[in-house]
Amino acid sequence: MTPNYKNPELSIKERVEDLLSRMTVEEKVAQMTQVSVNMVSADEADVYAEKGIGSFLHSLGDTTRRLKQIASNTRLGIPLIFGIDAIHGHSLHNGCTMYPSQLGVSCSWDEEKIHEMGKITAREAAEEGLHWLFSPVLCVGRDLRWGRIDETFGEDPYLIGELGYSIIRGYQSENLAAACAKHYLGYGESVGARDSYDSQISDRKIRECFLPPFKRAVEAESMTFMVGYESIDGLPMSANRKFLRDVLKDELGFAGFSVTDWCNIEGLHARQFVANDLRDASKIAVEAGNDMSMNSLGFMEHVIDMAKSGELDMKYIDDSVRRILAVKFKLGLFDGIEQRIPHGCTACEEHITACKALTDECPVLLENNGILPLGSKYKKIAVIGPNADNVKAQYGDWTYFSHPDANPNAVPKEELYTMLRGMKTVFSDAEVRYTRGCDVMDPTDQNIKEAVALANDSDVVVAVLGDCLDQNGESKDRCNLEITGAQLDLLKQLKATGKPVVVILVNGKPLCIGEVRDNCDALLETFNSGAYGGLSAAKILRGDCNPEGKLTISFPRNAGQIPVYYNQYAGWHSNPKTGGYCDCPPDALYPFGYGLSYNNYTYANMQVSKTSVTPDDTIEVSVDITNNGGRDGNEIVQLYVNDKVSSVCTPVKQLRGFQRAFIKAGQTITVTIPLSVSDLWIVNREEEYIVEAGEFELMIGKSSLDRDLLTQTIRCTETRRLSSSC
Ligand code: BGC
Repeated sequence: MTPNYKNPELSIKERVEDLLSRMTVEEKVAQMTQVSVNMVSADEADVYAEKGIGSFLHSLGDTTRRLKQIASNTRLGIPLIFGIDAIHGHSLHNGCTMYPSQLGVSCSWDEEKIHEMGKITAREAAEEGLHWLFSPVLCVGRDLRWGRIDETFGEDPYLIGELGYSIIRGYQSENLAAACAKHYLGYGESVGARDSYDSQISDRKIRECFLPPFKRAVEAESMTFMVGYESIDGLPMSANRKFLRDVLKDELGFAGFSVTDWCNIEGLHARQFVANDLRDASKIAVEAGNDMSMNSLGFMEHVIDMAKSGELDMKYIDDSVRRILAVKFKLGLFDGIEQRIPHGCTACEEHITACKALTDECPVLLENNGILPLGSKYKKIAVIGPNADNVKAQYGDWTYFSHPDANPNAVPKEELYTMLRGMKTVFSDAEVRYTRGCDVMDPTDQNIKEAVALANDSDVVVAVLGDCLDQNGESKDRCNLEITGAQLDLLKQLKATGKPVVVILVNGKPLCIGEVRDNCDALLETFNSGAYGGLSAAKILRGDCNPEGKLTISFPRNAGQIPVYYNQYAGWHSNPKTGGYCDCPPDALYPFGYGLSYNNYTYANMQVSKTSVTPDDTIEVSVDITNNGGRDGNEIVQLYVNDKVSSVCTPVKQLRGFQRAFIKAGQTITVTIPLSVSDLWIVNREEEYIVEAGEFELMIGKSSLDRDLLTQTIRCTETRRLSSSC
């Protein structure tokens, strides 16, 4: 007779309970175990599969099929789930639809297209038999020295939450893959931006700033979460029962399962020294609420032993296994998910068209003295710079070039456009010539003379500068954010030719670019823009495409100024509005929300539907926007709030709504953004989410800069503790 757990007619709960009741302790703990195929030999991987472990990660190609086969022959035939770091497209697969990095796509503020990116990524990973995507990164990117800034959606918790929500929904939209919200919690905020180190933040601060994006991930029904490497105020997150069990599972109601980050459990004793040995560490981690262990080899044996001896309560193990099995049932791994996979979809035309459309929206125009768009008037174009024809710098971290099994010599199978190829393609009626000019890092490696000669013999110079893979990505924290190597020297000498100079930046994160700004006529930031970045940038330069991106992260003037995020508290002796450092202004060189267009949008007539409100109300904030330019375009409209007087300090402004508004050339439209008064919450000293009575400033406009915002005040007449978390 077919066992109940194999019967798709039954509910997931019934199937899970039936299966659980048939499992031995060994089989249960095996489900809580994940191993990377790169960490063990093929034979060892087979043995793990025979033991019925729950998951492998980083398996590509035939290995996956082999291991699946072995799992299907185990006593209960519980399917494996394969995890993969598909963080900008299925980017470890050579030949995928290669999207820009998360930071890159965040600058589009386009929830729909980011949702589609999720859907496409899930399809392409599923085509390879992988149904679990270790994405999105919901870390708040506030310390720009941190190596993983490129993986974030920027610096604003609200925007991160909204874009995270969209991509999670996208990943899971066809039920081909589970998303994994990571790295829970406060990982990017470590002291000195030292990756995987201690974050000295309070639990109140966590609730105010770092938890909200993860709360949105729970609302998006992210099937899994990844527990970060960091400790918070000395307590490793893998041992943090309060935030793993009490807050995530009980308070927020997360129904999926959590996986540790790489060797986190081993790290409890080998790196963070809060456990005597792996056995002790495994106990701490399971009790704290980690459901699956990534790569701490030996975890399985210790936990089986402790469960049998009664040292570890079976209730924790049963809870974890229930969660893991539920995700496997939900995805249909028991019920022939293979039949639902759209075979032949990887890098298909539909996916590439969608990727190109999103990539077009991402570049942010930071400066333009009128030189752009170039149109067709320049016949001789010099493309110069170390990142002009540098696919690795353009892709950034987490592709087959870099992680986890680096193959720096890989030859991309996907069609791709470096900046140079993009320029040659888009300016096909001009003579586009190239020289590298210098290396990104090594100041002695340069051919500036040749570059200057080329510039002198051209009508316009496009200089492509930035950073490279050695300066960007996991384990690549920086203390210096200046432009490196001979790049500035190159730029200055190009500028000295008197030719117009347009700079394109290809880099993983905001760098200190004051001198770049001072030595160019226009400046376009593209971050890590994926396979079509070169095409999009060239289209923008020519004017075939309007620049529409806006920054989701602030640019510092100087690394010593960090943090420079826009949502700071007031109260610095040198008040942000009036003062600053004695040797540097307080504000960003380019702030959150900033970005130029070829159109000029003017804002007028801000209206608020109600000015005396209670926490039950949802009001409408509207504004008239006129497109004074000559092109139809999308303007990213931003709504900020400020609690004028509250029981704890609150940020001078915080994003609470936004809209990409399409406005035809010459037209005026009214944009309306709804605002729930409950979204005016703060976290008080008791760690409660509360709306406090009093006045709130609402600000609407084109960036987070005061000069770009219209303001109205509303009054909330009631104080209310919120029942849900935020
Ligand atoms: C990273 C995670 C990643 C994991 C698996 C870790 O080093 O922190 O983001 O998902 O490795 O590759």
